[in-house]
Amino acid sequence: MLKKIKKITIIKPDDWHVHLRDKETLKKVIQYTEKYYKRAIIMPNLENPVTNCTKSIAYQKRILNARKLDSNFEPLMVCYLTKNTSLKDLQIGFSKKIFIGAKLYPYGATTNSLEGIKNINEIYHILELMEKIKMPLLIHGEKIDNNIDIYDREKKFIDDTLILIRKKFPELKITLEHITTKEAVSYVEEHNSLYLSATITPHHLMCNRNDMFIKGIQPNLYCLPVLKRNIHQIALKKAISNGKKNFFLGSDTAPHFYQKKISNGCAGIFNAPVSLLCYITIFEEMNALKNFQSFCSENGPNFYNIPINQETITLVKKPYKNLNQINIGNNKIIPFLAGKTLNWSLETNEESFKKEK
Ligand code: DOR
Ligand code: ZN
Repeated sequence: MLKKIKKITIIKPDDWHVHLRDKETLKKVIQYTEKYYKRAIIMPNLENPVTNCTKSIAYQKRILNARKLDSNFEPLMVCYLTKNTSLKDLQIGFSKKIFIGAKLYPYGATTNSLEGIKNINEIYHILELMEKIKMPLLIHGEKIDNNIDIYDREKKFIDDTLILIRKKFPELKITLEHITTKEAVSYVEEHNSLYLSATITPHHLMCNRNDMFIKGIQPNLYCLPVLKRNIHQIALKKAISNGKKNFFLGSDTAPHFYQKKISNGCAGIFNAPVSLLCYITIFEEMNALKNFQSFCSENGPNFYNIPINQETITLVKKPYKNLNQINIGNNKIIPFLAGKTLNWSLETNEESFKKEK
């Protein structure tokens, strides 16, 4: 009989896709990411997007200042691409490690994307430079057009835009962010992990589109790309279990005030308090714990060409009751799986201390 694993120690993970926002929200939410992750790529889609080195350095400072006093969490920054992005600024930003990559938001695809790209040929000159200097391109991969069904946006983007980009710039390093479909899984799997990779979120692994409509409409499960059918959820779970190097952890934790989710229908799921616990739950269910560490802690740094972390963390099979909500002034944010109990938790300092004694 197989021995059930009760405890697992892995290299401390990185989260390759995080929204921390700014000001009071940043100060409140960062603690959940720094608890589990050594580094994270911080998305640049602020209300005033992070479109150049000056804005990025200032935002990174605000993030560093919001950390806990003893934290060594490292925020990695990306440049929000617009058709006016300065090539010089981008190149300097990458060579001085101000940016780890640049993010392509199609115009109107998601939160704060109105400075995004309307037509991919507007930025061919930027992609050409990025390919040359080996600067990764992170993509929100959805084609936006009123005539395209929202459930088909990702597949349409791959067919009409991604294939074109890859043909024109075969050595451009691309991360297809938060993939949601079996088509995206197959497309990424077929390619060399040096040039094409994808992040996968906990909510797209744990939920499908039914969950958004069961027991009444569930605004807290509304995100973009929108949750898809169960067959796609299964394809994502298989993708991470197979241990291919093209896939790594990107939670897309995206806090929004609850009131705004109700009144404006904001897209985004705040999963930082439990994201890592969700991932391990899925790896366990898929009998794939042997590939957990590479997904969380190795494939990402290898793709972005930065060192793998030295620290480790330990997760134990012990119930963890998630928060119901967090409060920010008069507002609240409802986390993913609010108030639910997960089967795994982070080993506390006292537990690891007892072990050492
Ligand atoms: O659900 C999402 N929320 N998807 C995105 O692409 C953006 C994010 C946000 O910024 O709220
Ligand atoms: Zn995102």
